[in-house]
Formats: sequence, structure tokens, C-alpha cells
Amino acid sequence: MTALSEALAGRHARLREAMKSHGLGAVAINASPTLGYLTGLGFHLSERPVMAVFTVEGTPTMVVPELESLKFKKAQFDVNLYTYTESLDSWQTAFSDALSYLASSKVGVEPRWLRVLELRFLEGAASRATLVSGEEAIAHLRMHKDVIELDMMRTATRIAQDALRATLPELKAGITELEAASILIQNMLRLGSGGELPFQPIVAFGPNSANPHAEPTDRPLQEGDLALFDWGANYNGYFSDLTRTFTFGDVDPELLKIAGLVEAANGAGRAASAPGVEAGDIDRATRAVIADAGYGEYFMHRTGHGLGLEVHEEPYIRDDNTQVMAPGMTFTVEPGIYLAGRGGVRIEDDVVITADGAESLSDMPRAVVPIPRG
Ligand code: GLY
Ligand code: MN
Ligand code: MN
Repeated sequence: MTALSEALAGRHARLREAMKSHGLGAVAINASPTLGYLTGLGFHLSERPVMAVFTVEGTPTMVVPELESLKFKKAQFDVNLYTYTESLDSWQTAFSDALSYLASSKVGVEPRWLRVLELRFLEGAASRATLVSGEEAIAHLRMHKDVIELDMMRTATRIAQDALRATLPELKAGITELEAASILIQNMLRLGSGGELPFQPIVAFGPNSANPHAEPTDRPLQEGDLALFDWGANYNGYFSDLTRTFTFGDVDPELLKIAGLVEAANGAGRAASAPGVEAGDIDRATRAVIADAGYGEYFMHRTGHGLGLEVHEEPYIRDDNTQVMAPGMTFTVEPGIYLAGRGGVRIEDDVVITADGAESLSDMPRAVVPIPRG
């Protein structure tokens, strides 16, 4: 058994348990991140439908275009494979041959990913099946990362950190946010990131850093700016998502004050992260540092979000989430304070719950310090 085949067997066993506890007879997955998770193979949403169906007992079934069938030479799990050709007539036939056994089953699907394209073929194959959301069962499964997944996330974090380190010496007065973002992206790709980044890096200078979801512009770096970088890499489909903020020249003392508060809030959030606490506890511990200093209204977003095959997934680290944290859960801790028209600071780490606390996958210094000048 390879490490991957062992991991896939474990994921399939946990999926079957989740199906039983959610009363599902089957789960049908199209080319979503979950498909990679359950097959160890890479698929993308395209005009050609792809579907895998897992049942409580028995071998999974997959329907794929014939031209993708070579991928299955590397499959590390048993699968009943059905293929269709470029002839459109063959598509429904393949789905019907593969999936008519579903009969009147209750089938869980992913509402955020299943398209009418696959839905029609699924309905054509099993018209008496009832389709329901399998989101909760699947999110529960994916929230708990196994050793292989954590390795990928560590690598995605290392690539991102090394890429920012390589970018900082390039940042001179006058460089624009777009130019800096471009150098950062090139460094991530050079250092081994997959081309599908988790999101376009945020590079925000001066007042632009007060916008939590800023997009890079042609604003040049100037003396007195805060410079905020929110970026992440992709390693085998697993993402990192980090934020660090720097100063450039002499910065308004209140901006330095909020920098210290955000760093303390980030530390409090990581310290509060442990098995047995609720996601809401982590949010409150983080937020309290900022609120107690009188800046609560300037931290207007949740403390973080789960991270893995998607950049935003369960568990969401917000006040009203009673999800109990458990070893293997990965998420961000990313407090920020944003003073409109002046600047903002956010410090974001990627954290995994361990047996007795939490570990930050990211270890770049967090303090808001001057960009090193070459
Ligand atoms: N970069 C998006 C986020 O931090 O959630
Ligand atoms: Mn981020
Ligand atoms: Mn984030």
C-alpha cells in the first residue's frame, strides 16, 4: 500500500460513515475539489461532464470522457470506470450504464459545484433518485486533514513565504502594487507553486491597505506607507493564505499602534486555538484584544476561515460558529484594523489544531517592520 492508497482508503471509509449518519445511499461528485480529495486524481470543470458516485457499500463508479481514461493508470483505488466518446450520443448512454443502479436512492450532491450539465445526465440515469445536499457530510470529512494533506499545506506555506522573502528586496520607492504583485507571482511559480493560485495576491500600499479586499493598482510605493501583502501558493491543489504588513519610511504613529494591536490579536487567536474549543471562542479571543483597545469597529470581518483544497471552507472562525475544533482542522487567523483613508494592518497565519493545542504552518516574522532596503 502506498501512502496515497492508504489515505484514499481512509477517506472513503470516513465518507461511508458520513453517508450513513446523514441517511444518504450515495454521493455523486462532479469535478469539484472534493473529487481530487476522493480520487487522488486531477480533474477540472469543463464542457465535458465528469462524475464519481460512491455508495455505502461496493466499488465507486466514475464516468469520464475517454480522453481522460489514461489518468486511471495511476489510480490508487478500485473503480468501475465508464467512458464516453466525442460523439454526444454516447454521453447519456455512459451515465445510464454507470448509474442506473442508483434507482430510487437518496443521493448527496455538492450544491455549490454540481451544474445543470451533470444534473441532467444524472437524472437521465436515475430518474427516481432523490438529490439532496451532501454539503454538510462532505465538509465534515474535508475539515479533518490527514498527514498527506498537511504535508501539502506545509509545502504550499513554505513556497509562499520563500516567494515573499525573495520579493521584498525588489520593493523600491515608486514600484507599483501591480508590479510588486507580478514579481510575487513569478517568485511563487519559480519556487514550485501550481499555476492556479488560490486568489490574485493583494498588494496594497498606503491608504489602499485599509481595504481588506483591495486589488493591486498602479499606486506607487511612497514614504510613509504601510505595505500589505495577502498572498498564497498552491501545492498539488492545497492552498496557503498569508498576510504580512510592512512599513516604508516614517509611518503615522497611530498606524504603528494598530500594528502592535493586530500582532497581539493574532497571537491571542493562535493561543486560543486548541482541540475542544469552539470556532467562536477563537474569534472572540482574537477580537477582544482589538475591541479592548477601542478599535473593535475597525475590525469588521471574521477572524478566519478553514483552508485546504478551497481557500474559504469550513470551519469558519466567527463569533456564531459553535463548531468544536479537533486535531487536523486547518484554518486562518487573520485579524486586521483598517483606518479608512490612512491605512490598514492585517496579519494572517495558517494554523492546524494538534492533539494539545495548535501549530502555525507559517512562521515568517509577524511584526510590522520596515521593508528591508537594498
Ligand atoms: N485572501 C483572502 C483571505 O484572506 O481570506
Ligand atoms: Mn488572505
Ligand atoms: Mn484568509
